[in-house]
Formats: sequence, C-alpha cells, structure tokens
Amino acid sequence: MLSTQKIIVIATIALSASSVFYGCAKDEKTPLDEWLIEESLRNDLVYYKGQDQLLDPKGSSPHPHFKLLFNPKAASVLDASGKLPIGASFPDSSLVLKVTYKPNGEDIKELVPMYKLSTSEYSENGWLWAKYSPTGSKALYSVSNKGDKCASCHSSSGNRDFTLAFDLH
Ligand code: HEC
Repeated sequence: MLSTQKIIVIATIALSASSVFYGCAKDEKTPLDEWLIEESLRNDLVYYKGQDQLLDPKGSSPHPHFKLLFNPKAASVLDASGKLPIGASFPDSSLVLKVTYKPNGEDIKELVPMYKLSTSEYSENGWLWAKYSPTGSKALYSVSNKGDKCASCHSSSGNRDFTLAFDLH
C-alpha cells in the first residue's frame, strides 16, 4: 500500500503538471458553460459540406484531427459550397463546433465550440470560446477566459468572421 507521504508527492506532481498544461486558463464551469455544452451536444447539428469525415489540421492550427459542425442558425448563412461567403458574418446564436479526435480517429478528444453571442460579457470578437471534455463533464477552457489566446489567432488574415477553416479545408 502507498504511504500517505507518497500519495502527497504524487498528488503534488499531478497538480503542477496540470497547471503546466493548462497554464492559468480557468476551467471551472459557469452556468453559461453548462448551457453551451447542451448546445454542443444537440442532435440537429450538421456536418461541414454535409460530410461526416475527419479533417486534418492545417496552417497555424494547434488543433488535432477534427470534424466540423454547425447548428441550423449557422448553417443558414453558408453558401452552396458549404462555406461562409467572404465578407459575410454569422448571425447571433450561431454555433460552429470543432470536435477533435484522438490519434485512433475514433474516440472524441474534445468539444471545441465557438458560439456567436455578441451581447455576452464573456464574448470576444462577438464569440464565446470554449473547450470541453467529450461528454461535457469537464470544462477544459471555460467561456469565462473570454477567448484569451483563441481570439487573437482566429483574427489571422483570411479569417471569415473569426473562423479559419473555410480557406483551409
Ligand atoms: C495558433 C492559432 C489558433 C489558436 C490559438 C486557436 N485556434 Fe482554433 N483554429 C485555428 C485554425 C488554423 C483553424 C482552422 C481549422 C484547422 O485546420 O484546424 C481553427 C479552427 C477552429 C474552430 C472551427 C471553426 C473555424 O475557425 O474554422 C473552432 C470552433 C476553434 N478553432 C476554436 C478555438 C478555440 C475555442 C480556441 C481557444 C481555446 C482556439 N480555437 C485556439 C487556429 C487556432
């Protein structure tokens, strides 16, 4: 059996390792996170270009292999090729969801939503930015971080209303 001392040492290492991985990003769920998790798990989301397939990360993307989904509101402004026209914007209540996958290509790694809610105190560039565990049990990056680190990269040239996939995929 492990001694109490060993357990404390292991717990301390685990704690400091997790703070290295997540930096100082807040990972406590707010009520808005709970709501956004439900929106991300809805069954009326549609796949990018209508195709249920894994996409490779491109450009400056720090994201692993993923599938890209839209709620009906977001899908309503996509053109015939499935993209947001250049210069167009998503309306409020649009959800663009990136579902990332583990290297085996089968198990979901994270739910990574952007939700257009320009009036929210948590929005940055008009969007809420978050990251959750596959079932939404954990917030890996709460909306309360206000898109810190996400929003600046998503402002890169070629962005369409702060989304980056349309030129790359
Ligand atoms: C260093 C740049 C960078 C950072 C930081 C970043 N992303 Fe992205 N993100 C990308 C790129 C590039 C894409 C385009 C798709 C791809 O190839 O991965 C993307 C795609 C996405 C998409 C799909 C919609 C779109 O933009 O096309 C979502 C949703 C998303 N990111 C959310 C986030 C969130 C939330 C964070 C912060 C927790 C974040 N991203 C941080 C570069 C970044």
